[in-house]
Amino acid sequence: MKKAYTFDDVLLVPKKSYVTTRKDVDTSTKLSRNIKLNIPIVAANMDTVCEHKMAIVCAQQGGIGIIHRFMSVPDQVKEVNKVKRSEMIRIDTPYCLTPSHTLLVAKKLMDEKGISGILVTDNGDNLVGILTNRDIVFEENVDMKISELMSTDLITADPSISIEEAKVMLQKNRIEKLPLVDSNKKLKGLITSKDIIKSKILPDSSKDAKGRLLVGAAIGVRGDFIQRAEALINADVDALVIDIAHGHSILTLETIKEIRKNFGDIELIAGNVATSDGTLELIEAGCDSIKVGVGSGSICITRLVAGSGVPQLTAIMDCAKVAKEHNIPLISDGGIRTSGDIAKAIAAGASTVMIGGLLAGTEESPGVPILRHGQRYKVVRGMASLGATIGRESREKKGSFDELDFGSVVPEGVEAMVPYRGTAAEVIFQLVGGLRSGMSYCGAKNLEEMQNNAEFVQITTAGWKESTSHDVELI
Ligand code: XMP
Repeated sequence: MKKAYTFDDVLLVPKKSYVTTRKDVDTSTKLSRNIKLNIPIVAANMDTVCEHKMAIVCAQQGGIGIIHRFMSVPDQVKEVNKVKRSEMIRIDTPYCLTPSHTLLVAKKLMDEKGISGILVTDNGDNLVGILTNRDIVFEENVDMKISELMSTDLITADPSISIEEAKVMLQKNRIEKLPLVDSNKKLKGLITSKDIIKSKILPDSSKDAKGRLLVGAAIGVRGDFIQRAEALINADVDALVIDIAHGHSILTLETIKEIRKNFGDIELIAGNVATSDGTLELIEAGCDSIKVGVGSGSICITRLVAGSGVPQLTAIMDCAKVAKEHNIPLISDGGIRTSGDIAKAIAAGASTVMIGGLLAGTEESPGVPILRHGQRYKVVRGMASLGATIGRESREKKGSFDELDFGSVVPEGVEAMVPYRGTAAEVIFQLVGGLRSGMSYCGAKNLEEMQNNAEFVQITTAGWKESTSHDVELI
């Protein structure tokens, strides 16, 4: 019988380092065959972890978030749209109203979408005006028509304008919004100073070719998965994640085939697996990245309920042997509690780590903090927990569930509380800082060097005890 290890069983042996400052190490990596990230952090597709707020922060920091699938297709598309529109330097389809709409409608749209101005077009998509906060700030008559309030003295640019040229025009004319119109006056887009400023503050954010933040979204293997995939692809999602607990399954292989048949070369991530055989089959079926981890998550009880799984470090190493040969990145999913775990996961062969519980305690995870004995907490739940399963079934059946339904569920996850940890940006900063430190101890300037230099030692219980703070009273 083979012996298998997890993060706490090992340490990385320090190596001679040529890194003089940890700021100099390069944490860039690949999420999948064609998606590059600047940090190896992926927010887990769980309903207590990743909706648009989490996905936005992760992408701003250089990682990515995967929007969970436990909502209707239109709702999941809305979440993707919110990420895609949050930081678009060049907006292809700006929000528009017509001159006959009322101020009430305009105010509602501005509130709902969090925007400070609306372009006004006639029914043929010709730009005829712009309505900004300045035009309406003291107007109390909400029944007034937009045509009576909008500015018609418009500064516009050709759609081919570069961002640098747009910056000059915005500055010269002291304006914040530059509509893009073609020679027939048809509206073709919008550039705003706010988006240019934001993109400057966060130079390492993960962006697509149009300057929009990257985002992934999960799909299942049954029911509406094809419609879901199609709607997400139409919303310009950057990657689809086939989300199934036992990924080495005929269901996953058929799903990969269906997605490829219907949608060609969309970036496709599949999992979860924990073996080299599983990795090979998913790669041969045509996916662009593999999610590794069975029973490793903080809220998982699969190993207790089903007696199945592989401790995470061994799972990564086994899968990495095959993935490396095919040049396919691995996502280590589950079990990350410290930055040291991230360093070990990467050194073992993962290109990124997917994080659930650690990010669930942050400001940007769905849900509000709860107070318990004077401490703030947030809720995290396994997607195969009783609550999540019942919620999903009740939503899918569009009705209420009765008590009998509880008995038919065999949960493989738990519902829990995690301490409130502040903003996700702060947590990610600490995690990446620790990883940089780990790279320096490995004598590595980048993640590839870290994997090449890595030497693990297995430690004893006494070694582990020595590794944590000991013989002191923590304050
Ligand atoms: P962490 O440790 O970061 O792990 O909280 C997150 C990962 O856990 C997986 N997950 C589950 N696994 N039962 C399981 O066996 C569940 O109910 C469950 N919910 C989530 C998932 O892979 C996630 O990314």
